[in-house]
Amino acid sequence: MLQAERAQGALLPEYHRPTPECPNPRLWSMYDSMTAEAEVLEFLLCLVTTLKPALIVETGSFLGISTLWMAQGLKRNGFGRIISCEYDPIVFAKAQEKIAASGLQEWIELRNESSLEMAVEGRIDLLFSDSDMPIRRQEVTRFLPQINPHGVILMHDASSHLKTVREAALAMEQDGLLSVVLLPTPRGLVLAQKREGRA
Ligand SMILES: C[S@@+](CC[C@H](N)C(=O)[O-])C[C@H]1O[C@@H](n2cnc3c(N)ncnc32)[C@H](O)[C@@H]1O
Repeated sequence: MLQAERAQGALLPEYHRPTPECPNPRLWSMYDSMTAEAEVLEFLLCLVTTLKPALIVETGSFLGISTLWMAQGLKRNGFGRIISCEYDPIVFAKAQEKIAASGLQEWIELRNESSLEMAVEGRIDLLFSDSDMPIRRQEVTRFLPQINPHGVILMHDASSHLKTVREAALAMEQDGLLSVVLLPTPRGLVLAQKREGRA
């Protein structure tokens, strides 16, 4: 949070180390090391305007920056909502402040709870999994029955260097639960779809 406050919204070069799939991470930018890469934020917005999701679920709001980018997409679409959870109460309060000041609050339901306990009603069209890396398989598995088979699942921090999330996504593919594409961004982004129910 300190790093984000010091940067005051200025773009910095991406900090993540080179990987075989992304040898030049400095070509990307970031606001801070927790918030998704700036280009990934743009991709999230674009995905929302492309897919027109009625319900987005995000795990790991941090300061609400990715939440706000997706909410911008919902505003452009003119419908939909995003439910985002952050379990740390101090971080949650900061995100709440930012969202309240953004003019995008009507599109967002921010919850101070864990992704492993959060109950969501309805069919999820877009899931952005961006919480604690070791629990990503657990949280995607929890929401899987509710995910629209024509919808999209994103799992952030899936680079070959960070490993845990990449391995979780590949294991879920191996188990026949997901089809995954590993996007070669600095921190890695899994773009997936659930297998069950896909026409
Ligand atoms: C990488 S940051 C999220 C960044 C944010 N999505 C963005 O790009 O702007 C991860 C956040 O997840 C939160 N977190 C970790 N485990 C969680 C859980 N089980 N449920 C909800 N939030 C969690 C952390 O406190 C942290 O703020």
